[in-house]
Amino acid sequence: MTQASAPGKCILFGEHAVVYGRPAIAIPLPGLRATARVSDLPSSPPARVRIEAPDIRVNGWIEEVPFNDPLRRVIELTLQETGPPPNGLHVDVRSKIPIASGLGSGAAVSVALVRAISRHLGAELTNERVSSLAFEVEKLHHGTPSGIDNTVVTYERAVYYAQESGPEPFQFSKALPLVIGDTGVGSPTREVVGLVRRAWQQEPEALESIFDQIGSLVGTAREALLSGRIRILGELMDRNQTLLEALDVSAEMLRALISAAKAAGALGAKLSGAGRGGIVIALPPGPQSGPIEAALRDAGAVWTYTAEVGA
Ligand code: PMV
Repeated sequence: MTQASAPGKCILFGEHAVVYGRPAIAIPLPGLRATARVSDLPSSPPARVRIEAPDIRVNGWIEEVPFNDPLRRVIELTLQETGPPPNGLHVDVRSKIPIASGLGSGAAVSVALVRAISRHLGAELTNERVSSLAFEVEKLHHGTPSGIDNTVVTYERAVYYAQESGPEPFQFSKALPLVIGDTGVGSPTREVVGLVRRAWQQEPEALESIFDQIGSLVGTAREALLSGRIRILGELMDRNQTLLEALDVSAEMLRALISAAKAAGALGAKLSGAGRGGIVIALPPGPQSGPIEAALRDAGAVWTYTAEVGA
């Protein structure tokens, strides 16, 4: 049996604008992982693959899974790289990462699968190749992905990322606690990215101006993370949220959780990921995140989590 895992991720600043070439900052969430286990199925014919993924409700032979399903796609892409397996394969996927919430569950499942299958078949792929296969699969989730999710999940490092320059891993001057609250409202990234694209096609100048403002704020955030200026990070999160509201990717439930986190003392809070649902992130003033998690739950969050990020 061969096992591999990959973390969830969270976008701190710059979602959506990153699809239009501006930079964004994302961090891995090492405590929240997807795990793939691959073993031989000696009694089945070669190249037959059985998938068991109860957390994403997939169970069966690969050819029974819809052609466009991301799990099927990632397995087939990986086997194109490695060549067909000499035996049948049993592939088991488990994930602790909430789905369609902005936490990178799709990318984490893809990366864990590519690594486990290629390693099992003795043809382990480089990180660059792993990331690029996961990017192909992200197209099914996102339509026109920026590439940030597969990058941060593959390299498991905080990254400052722009499509043109690629990922620039960086280390924060100090680790930060970050509180995450899930609205429980599933939000398919592809749809929200599509809404922004239609708005951009209708009003290119207005949208480009918002993307510029987000891009410049991301540059300031990078400096603040490198120099440990935590307070300004809270203000930048609030400003980023205002710009995401202007893009019309927020929602009532997100606003309710953001207000609750701020009322409980958060230095700043914003939606993270595609928006319209999914998660909010909030920056606590110190190591105590309990009151903010409690306030998020009281305001309706179905799941809360505190991560230490950028260490
Ligand atoms: O919803 P998520 O976490 O997969 O993030 C989407 C981030 C976007 O910037 C909206 C899209 C992208 O591909 O970068």
